[in-house]
Amino acid sequence: MEICECNGALNAIASFFVVWGYTRGENSRKVKESGLVERLIWRRALTKALLYKTLSLEHLKDHTECQGEMATNKHHCSSSFTFLLLSLLFLQFYSGLSELQLNYYTTSCPRAEEIVKEEVTKLYQKHGNTAVSWMRNLFHDCVVKSCDASLLLDTAHGIVSEKTSQRSFGMRNFKYISTIKEALERECPATVSCADIVALSARDGVALLGGPQIEMKTGRKDSLESYATQVENYIPNHNDSISLVLSRFQSLGIGAEGTVALLGAHSVGRVHCLNLVERLYPTVDPTLDPEHAEYLKHRCPTPESDPKKVEYARNDLETPMVLDNMYYKLLLRHQGLLLVDAQLVSDPSTSPFVEKMAADNGYFHDQFSVALLTLSENNPLTGDQGEIRKDCRYVNRD
Ligand code: HEM
Ligand SMILES: *[C@@H]1O[C@H](CO)[C@@H](O)[C@H](O)[C@H]1NC(C)=O
Repeated sequence: MEICECNGALNAIASFFVVWGYTRGENSRKVKESGLVERLIWRRALTKALLYKTLSLEHLKDHTECQGEMATNKHHCSSSFTFLLLSLLFLQFYSGLSELQLNYYTTSCPRAEEIVKEEVTKLYQKHGNTAVSWMRNLFHDCVVKSCDASLLLDTAHGIVSEKTSQRSFGMRNFKYISTIKEALERECPATVSCADIVALSARDGVALLGGPQIEMKTGRKDSLESYATQVENYIPNHNDSISLVLSRFQSLGIGAEGTVALLGAHSVGRVHCLNLVERLYPTVDPTLDPEHAEYLKHRCPTPESDPKKVEYARNDLETPMVLDNMYYKLLLRHQGLLLVDAQLVSDPSTSPFVEKMAADNGYFHDQFSVALLTLSENNPLTGDQGEIRKDCRYVNRD
């Protein structure tokens, strides 16, 4: 009886890990095609599954050989359980080494997070919009395969930068990443990854913009590639349908509520006319507040916006530098700038969340924190994958 119970439990645990490995692997295959990560997940899941399966087979043998000898079996079962528990502990610890964790740099670079915060704060005081850029960087880096600083690579040595993609249009302040990286290199050379700089600078930028305080794990490694040709498969366009936007975020594990919250990032910053003129010319989009359309036409006076001209409109004229729920209030007034923003109010699967967030800034901040955290943990390279770049713009060359 006890053997069977013991055996059943072990089998169940083994199956659990197979299913778990399969769904995690599927998930990462569907969206990211990142072979490395997928293999790692499988390796881990199968190791665990095999372990439990072996244990359960051992018990089956006991069961047929010495059916009557309850005492021995009992002993076997309990010693196996001790073994199982120890292995579990060991595996948790072992796999923990190659996963993101809180305060990853505690021993290797105790002041890492403090240094990032100091530099982000100094930059914010000089150029407030750097904080806005760090938030957008996290989205553009993490959505494309992995939070791996692939965004930050320059075009050089056979690499084509993601920064050259049409989707990266308007992104700015990349040069100040070097300011943060250099401060870290002075304190702990070749220790803190650029991917963690992307994550931590976004986190600190959010807080400086009056957004929520977010606890973030670290331990990301940097990619050896930039995925310029694939950016458009991951990052939606300004005029994509709400269903496409929702499915892209869903594949990252972010639902409609989280998607609505994340787009609240458009509570700060600007939009170039290039991304607006379609809603203004030849006729004004009927879902746009006519008065606001007049203002936007004033900012963008011609139907063909020259991308080289610095023509843009601010997302939020009332609190342009605060990450607050004004964005949702403006959406309800039909003053959202991008088509994707505007669709959040017109679509029944997202409009209830817009209303809730417009009514409650705390609720917006809570949902934003959760979703940003999920985004920041998308498929990271960890352990011996990737590298720690010395200069965020180039892969190491030694
Ligand atoms: C469907 C998803 C999204 C689309 C289609 C989208 C598209 C855009 C576009 C077209 C701009 C204007 C660029 C320009 O003309 O200069 C922009 C700006 C911005 N986006 Fe998004 N975005 C999306 C989601 C996000 C998310 C999830 C975040 C961050 C959590 C984010 C953060 C920002 C920020 C901060 C800006 C202002 C940048 C600046 O002023 O320098 N966006 N986005
Ligand atoms: C979306 O905008 C781009 C230009 O930014 C344009 O080329 C494309 O045709 C638009 N797509 C739709 C579906 O309107």
